Amino acid sequence: MYKMSRFPENFLWGGATAASQVEGGFDQGGKGLDTQDCRPQFPELTREQKNSWEFKQMTTERFNEALACKTKGNYPFRWGSEEYSHYEEDIRLFAEMGMKVYRLSISWARIYPNGDDEKPNQEGIDYYKRVFEECHKYGIKVFVTMLHYAVPVHLVTEYGGWKNRKMIDFYLRYAKTLFENFAEDVDYWLPFNEINAGRFNPYNGVALIKDQEENFDQSVYQALHHQFIANALTVKLGHEMMPGSKFGCMIARFCHYGATCSPQDQITLLHDEQYTNWFYTDVLAGGAYPAYMNRHFKDRNVHVHFEPGDEEILRCYPVDFVSFSYYFTQVSTADQEWAKTNGNLVVANKNPYLESSEWGWQKDPMGLRISLNQLYDRYHKPLFVAENGLGAVDVVEEDGSIHDPYRIDYLRSHIDAMADAIEDGVEMIGYTIWGIIDLVSCGSIEMSKRYGVIYVDADDEGKGTFERKKKDSFYWYKNCIENNGKFE
Ligand code: BG6
Repeated sequence: MYKMSRFPENFLWGGATAASQVEGGFDQGGKGLDTQDCRPQFPELTREQKNSWEFKQMTTERFNEALACKTKGNYPFRWGSEEYSHYEEDIRLFAEMGMKVYRLSISWARIYPNGDDEKPNQEGIDYYKRVFEECHKYGIKVFVTMLHYAVPVHLVTEYGGWKNRKMIDFYLRYAKTLFENFAEDVDYWLPFNEINAGRFNPYNGVALIKDQEENFDQSVYQALHHQFIANALTVKLGHEMMPGSKFGCMIARFCHYGATCSPQDQITLLHDEQYTNWFYTDVLAGGAYPAYMNRHFKDRNVHVHFEPGDEEILRCYPVDFVSFSYYFTQVSTADQEWAKTNGNLVVANKNPYLESSEWGWQKDPMGLRISLNQLYDRYHKPLFVAENGLGAVDVVEEDGSIHDPYRIDYLRSHIDAMADAIEDGVEMIGYTIWGIIDLVSCGSIEMSKRYGVIYVDADDEGKGTFERKKKDSFYWYKNCIENNGKFE
């Protein structure tokens, strides 16, 4: 029990969503088809099968089927939670909760339907203008993710996704349009969601289809290099066009613990941390490729091609703050037979000291405190927890109430861990609960894995009224915000 808030006065409490998972309206307002619109659901698969790495990869066959389908079909990202037509109501609910910031993504294909169009789609610009105005009406700050996995499909069919360096120019054209139109509307900019997804889920991260790549590792790292350059040039352009603007980088934070104190486990731990986390933030926040990657590239026969000037671009335009998503921790071990469980788009090693969510993600608030300390010690830049939350099955009672004590416990323990990190000396900007309103799960492509403190009446097939209801966690978070994170 704490008598005083352990959070700074101006701490930004908020919620986060992504366009592809919440908006719907995939064929409205001139939007083009994007890569997330093409991920089908497979209701016949078990939860275990849906969690497998294979299920999460795109194939050419599946992709072509999706391109041919012009209706919603069995593509849940085409309907999401229908925020496209419910945004006023949703933002009113955010305001009722007292939210200080809304993290949302702009759909690239709503602004440039094909990605390489000469001119932007005015209807798309107008839509986001209305969304931002609605936020401002209630004094809610805006944190924009410029690319949350959804790439216009034409950039894949025509250019092969991010392995093609031309993507940098298309992305910068899109960035310039956003800055020209929304300079006054956006408080924090995030060029790429979870940039390490390029490695752990290359379809989502860098728009690559595995069976089309001769040397997958080579394509993945070259594509990531193009994103790094695009990120740095976006920071440059943004700072030039909007002096004082704030740009962040983001990773899916994979916090690891060594399984034992055996040197073999400890070197595995070091490599896991370097290759899954530090590489990305060392480039974007630190400004250079770290030396430890040379060995990793050599072992995989990867040769990242740098154009003259690339090193300077990375060095000169690092980000202003570092953000990350945080859901679970995992074990690093040299033992290949170690028991496995699931994690965010990855298969993780099990930790016997932790309990797991219904989807097998190992709940660990202490790992959040550790991550915050490690990231701050390394970069000395302010941190933003851009995603954190619990995916669970919720039950609507006969009287319409939704009791979700499991979610409240999860949020409370993680918020407490952030307060500890702040007392450890970490500088934090804010915290946005992932899926503040129920939305389609990114990994398992279903509605029944719910994160929201606001319920959306829709099932996995998109059937339902899409009516919004407040869960118990809605009232709990409202109270948490009112008291600036101080718990009774
Ligand atoms: C993050 C993504 O990886 O995790 C979100 O940025 C995603 O898009 C979130 O929804 C939770 O993962 P999932 O698979 O439970 O939706």
